Amino acid sequence: MSIIRNERLADAGLEKIKWVKEHMPVLSELANDFSRSKPFSGLRVAICLHLEAKTAYMALVIKEAGADVTITGSNPLSTQDEIAAALVKEGVEVFAWHNATLQEYDEHVYRTAATAPHLIIDDGGDLITLIHKNFPKSLAQVYGGAEETTTGLIRLRAMEKNGVLAFPVMAVNDGLCKYLFDNRYGTGQSVWDGMMRATNLVVAGKNVVIIGYGWCGRGVAMRAEGLGGRVIVCEVDPVKALEAHMDGHQVMPLTKASAIGDIFITVTGCNNVITGEHFAAMKDRAILANAGHFDIEIDKRTLSCAGEGPRRVRPNVDEYVFPGGKRIYLLSEGRLVNLAAADGHPAEIMDMSFGLQVLSLQYLLKNKGTLGNKVIAMPHELDRQVALLKLKGLQLEIDHLSIEQKEYMESWELEGHEA
Ligand code: ADE
Repeated sequence: MSIIRNERLADAGLEKIKWVKEHMPVLSELANDFSRSKPFSGLRVAICLHLEAKTAYMALVIKEAGADVTITGSNPLSTQDEIAAALVKEGVEVFAWHNATLQEYDEHVYRTAATAPHLIIDDGGDLITLIHKNFPKSLAQVYGGAEETTTGLIRLRAMEKNGVLAFPVMAVNDGLCKYLFDNRYGTGQSVWDGMMRATNLVVAGKNVVIIGYGWCGRGVAMRAEGLGGRVIVCEVDPVKALEAHMDGHQVMPLTKASAIGDIFITVTGCNNVITGEHFAAMKDRAILANAGHFDIEIDKRTLSCAGEGPRRVRPNVDEYVFPGGKRIYLLSEGRLVNLAAADGHPAEIMDMSFGLQVLSLQYLLKNKGTLGNKVIAMPHELDRQVALLKLKGLQLEIDHLSIEQKEYMESWELEGHEA
């Protein structure tokens, strides 16, 4: 039995799903194939992901492939109630609602874990860790899982290292067709979508401080520059810092950037990144947002203690007033701004990430019992399959090596110059 906010919202949700479906050719090709072959027939699939339209379309593709699907949200603010209702109408079991309390959120994930799944899709590792902690008896029947995010993989690799991971987990985040597009172009665009919807302010001419220069940080910085922002990057990794410098951004420690920035965006995956000393140095009307998976990057507790607030001044914008009158604005309570204040990544991007997710489930099934209880690197053939389907959907043709060229590329004996 599903637990959602309002079943009457289903038709609005179905319209949203119809829109994204038109822009997700990889998933649609796989759906065509799977609706005939039914690879997940008789299996239970549990999903913990941001519950919005693209995710819903993937859940329906997996259902169409024969599975019983149960889904919950991976963040209390990213669940859209009309999408939850649409999925229930389409026969998916849903435990989620928008703005769930932490207790409700935990209960939703718990109920999803309690379905004793054979296959799991996770975003951040909450579902997989909860199954390990609370349902040890159902671990043996799990064929495997697939993890969407950098943050989730960090947790799962720690589990593997501690010898507690009880089934294989596909590192979807590490797929080329995931991070090259989703982390960079997806986050790059959707973060600014969220920032603009929340604030309705201009980026041009502002000092934009990006903290973390992984694939997501690179994308956010690239788009900030395109919008006319002056980008400052803060990094702990010397190689990434150097890369930011060569990409044309200013690089400095956050303690220095704090006094200069107009907008601060955390994309590190780490905790307590912006904290008391930084708030103290900031200018009046500084805007803070987070694009990392958990709301741990901006130290909200210290912000509440140091300043009066929060006072909601617009949807997704909270004001904190410091002694002396300085104001700091926190977006989306420090949760993923692109999913809380907007709809997440564009459909064309999630098409590739979710194509890899679905193919990963099939891979786990085909290789059942042979993969070991570890985090599995994304096999190149799955990346290639998604890329080919995407190119086909985009009606783009590419070149192919001749037989002679292939031989050359595979040989060490052939001369590097004409005979
Ligand atoms: N939509 C669904 N899952 C998402 C994710 N992990 N990031 C951005 N948008 C999403």
